[in-house]
This record gives sequence, structure tokens and C-alpha cells, in this order.
Amino acid sequence: MELDARQRAMLEEMGIRVWTPIESMSEDALAFAESAPVPVPGPLGSDTRLGSGGPTLPTQTRSVPTPVPAEAKSSVYAEPASRALPADIAAMGWDDLETAVAGCQACGLCKSRKNTVFGVGHRQARWLIVGEAPGENEDLQGEPFVGQAGKLLDNMLKVLGRSRTSDDEAQSVYIANVLKCRPPGNRNPAPEEVLQCEPYLRRQVALLQPRIILAMGRFAVQSLLQHSVPDVATLPLGRLRGQVHRYEGVPVVVSYHPAYLLRTPQDKAKAWEDLCLAQSLM
Ligand code: URA
Repeated sequence: MELDARQRAMLEEMGIRVWTPIESMSEDALAFAESAPVPVPGPLGSDTRLGSGGPTLPTQTRSVPTPVPAEAKSSVYAEPASRALPADIAAMGWDDLETAVAGCQACGLCKSRKNTVFGVGHRQARWLIVGEAPGENEDLQGEPFVGQAGKLLDNMLKVLGRSRTSDDEAQSVYIANVLKCRPPGNRNPAPEEVLQCEPYLRRQVALLQPRIILAMGRFAVQSLLQHSVPDVATLPLGRLRGQVHRYEGVPVVVSYHPAYLLRTPQDKAKAWEDLCLAQSLM
């Protein structure tokens, strides 16, 4: 992929310096820039979710323990489903699906959420980006990736000429999360919550029919590749990068979560490679 001076400057601004043409896609093709000043996520809330996907993270823990406010402790851990999922999700159109998500009470997250976070972008976009779960800002605004991590994601997409707000399906992206409701205290999604929410994402994929799915972070990767990659839960995310996986027949590229990249700017260049791989598949 040819990058012009403006695109290179935009990447440098994000702390990604491209030294040589990017076509080779090798590790050496992208060098780590001096990390640009990058806002660090606050302890709770300010940039919401911490994101997962560092190369050495154990599968079921975060690198930084997530504090839980005392008042939220009683409700913070996964609660049993209070009501079943609608039976006909697999037959729903976009609007019915969005309405079903807005009224969903299939797990305990419905009790603490302010808004459901269905997804954003063109409903015929060729790219689907899947994150983990809404954080505080997303819960307040009802839109995925609206904090600092989202800004980084938007900026990286911009270099590729893509945006969540584009009306042009060829340039737009659709962004959704594995979970549609915020886990209180930004804790990790619980397995039963992922299980309950899965039919919604599955239906979004079926309706969107994307040409490529970019799975960002450990929970997106585990949810999308659980049936196609044996032992996906125990593999470091880095081992799944650089290959093309499949979900329901759609090519899947694995990358780091943008919140992880804010904390680990030296891995931004690898994330840029992942986006280039996705772009090359188009
Ligand atoms: N992190 C995510 O995975 N999704 C969001 O929507 C926001 C932060």
C-alpha cells in the first residue's frame, strides 16, 4: 500500500513511524517511533475500558487490576439471567434487532446499564470492527469506542480513508462490541454474559455481511474464533495475528485492543500492520 506524506504524518502523530514501503508487511517494515504523548486511561471511567490483548497476558486476567467501587460490589459480578433472549433473533432485521438489544434483560448487566450500545456505522459497510464491551463513556452515549481508545481507532482508520461516519459503504466501517451492555466497574465480561450476547453479534454479522472482520482484543478474538481455533482461550493474542481466520465464512484479522495500545504504544506499529493486512484482503 502506497502511503503519501500526509498519511505518514498522521501515523507519526499516533506514534507509528513507517520507514519503508508497507507492502512487505514484515516486522521490520515498521519501526517503533518515539511514543507520541498519548493520554493514559484513567483508573476508572475516564477512558473506560482497559482493553485486552497484550502478548503476555494470561487469558482470564487483565494486566492491571480493575478497581470496583464499593457501592457497586453487590451487583458487579455476573448475575443470572432474568429473562430469556428473544427466540427469533436469527430472523430479525436491523431495526428489530436494535430494539431487541435495547430491551434485553437476558443477563444481570441490564440492571446497571444506562444505555445499550448496539453498534455504529454504515449497515452495509465492508469492514466490521469488533471490540469488547462498552465502558463508561459508551454506556452514557450509547455508542461504541467514544473515549481515547476510540479516538486512536478512528485516527488509524482515517489513514486508510475509512470512518464510522462515512455514507459510502466502500469507505465506512461498522463498529460493534461482543457485549452490548457495560460490565460495572469495567470488569471483564463474564463467560455467561458473552454467551447470552453472542446471538446479537452473530445476527449483526449475518445482516452486515462484511468482507472483513477486525477482532480487537482478547474477548473479541475468543468470541469470534472459539469454534474455529482450538484452545483459542489459552493462546496469546500475538500468536493469532498475521493470519486470516474465519467467522461464519468471513475473513477475520486479529489485532490488539486500542486501549491496550494506549498503554503499550510500542505495539501500535503491529496494530498498523494488522490494519494493512485487513486492507490488503479487500
Ligand atoms: N472498549 C471496547 O472494547 N468497546 C468500546 O465500545 C469501548 C471501549
